[in-house]
Amino acid sequence: MGMLSNPSRIVPAEGQFIEKAAEILLEASLASFPTETVYGLGGLAASAEAISALFSLKGRPSSNPLIVHLATTEQIGDVATVDSPLIRGRVEHLYRLMPGPLSLVLPARKDRTVPAVRAGGDTVAVRIPHHPVAQALLTRVGRPIAAPSANRSTRVSPTRASHVLDEFPFAGLIILDGGPCDVGLESTVVDLTPAVPIILRPGSITKGALEAALGEPVVSLTERVSSAKNHQIAKSPGLSTIHYSPRTPFFLKHQWAELCEKPLKIGWISLSQDDTPPISAAETRILSARGDLEEAASQLYAVLRELDEYGLEAIVVGEIPGHGVGEAILDRLRRASGR
Ligand code: TXA
Ligand code: MG
Repeated sequence: MGMLSNPSRIVPAEGQFIEKAAEILLEASLASFPTETVYGLGGLAASAEAISALFSLKGRPSSNPLIVHLATTEQIGDVATVDSPLIRGRVEHLYRLMPGPLSLVLPARKDRTVPAVRAGGDTVAVRIPHHPVAQALLTRVGRPIAAPSANRSTRVSPTRASHVLDEFPFAGLIILDGGPCDVGLESTVVDLTPAVPIILRPGSITKGALEAALGEPVVSLTERVSSAKNHQIAKSPGLSTIHYSPRTPFFLKHQWAELCEKPLKIGWISLSQDDTPPISAAETRILSARGDLEEAASQLYAVLRELDEYGLEAIVVGEIPGHGVGEAILDRLRRASGR
């Protein structure tokens, strides 16, 4: 009860605080920790109490399942069924990309996670993060930890400890400070259960990297939307459009161009300095001076959060190439624009 009235606090990601966070998690309370993608809000995957607290703190719809975090690939079999040769083969091929920014949707062992983690479904998403603090914490806890991004539902994911504090100032959370996240975008989510694996959420691990590791074709959810099997969409409600949004009206450059009445006080975000704003901008941010997409991905959410505080009439983002991690950046930008 006291939890919601107590201030949250940022603590250094050192031994004693990792130990403290582990104890909190083992008591079925929540704690926030860094991963290489974004900060997570952890809770014991087998505890109904912890998972219910997670959903209510985030304001997350119960239809949106959570990713279960593990310390090692050997633990995948603790929460998922990998005995079919097809699934086992796929998981083993993907060992070379794990630990890392990759989440696998697999048939669930239903007795190992509470139904809410799976949104009542038959599959479970698993991820083994490689961030040293996440690794130390998961190893110490020794049990599967469900960890959505540590933001209120529909908001931009946190890539700094201070972002988590801004999201949940009075949730009595301890927030392990691991500095800025390297990747800065949420993990690639790939469903390994269908005949052809499907990317449900693009991330820094690209379709090409997955196909190379798996040795078989993979489809992106967007390629499937028009096909008959579009019931798959309902499987990953995190892919709904109103997601990852700043409060300030948000546009991609081409959407801005189509606006009839254009706001005057804009914030401009571009990949490099070569891309200039359509009108003079009140605030300008460049994601990567050298136009590097990975650096841009790592900066994007922090820049969105920062510009959201300026009382701008609109935020407009310039050209982003769609190759490599650019695909995931564009995916998040389209969602942020809700169009
Ligand atoms: O990088 C990440 O994955 C971060 C860090 C903390 O690890 N976590 C994260 O969790 O982004 P969250 O809850 O914000 O996003 C989970 C995504 C959602 O799009 C959800 O719908 C999808 O994973 N998901 C989870 N379980 C699923 C399942 N069984 N089937 C299909 N999609 C699932
Ligand atoms: Mg999220």
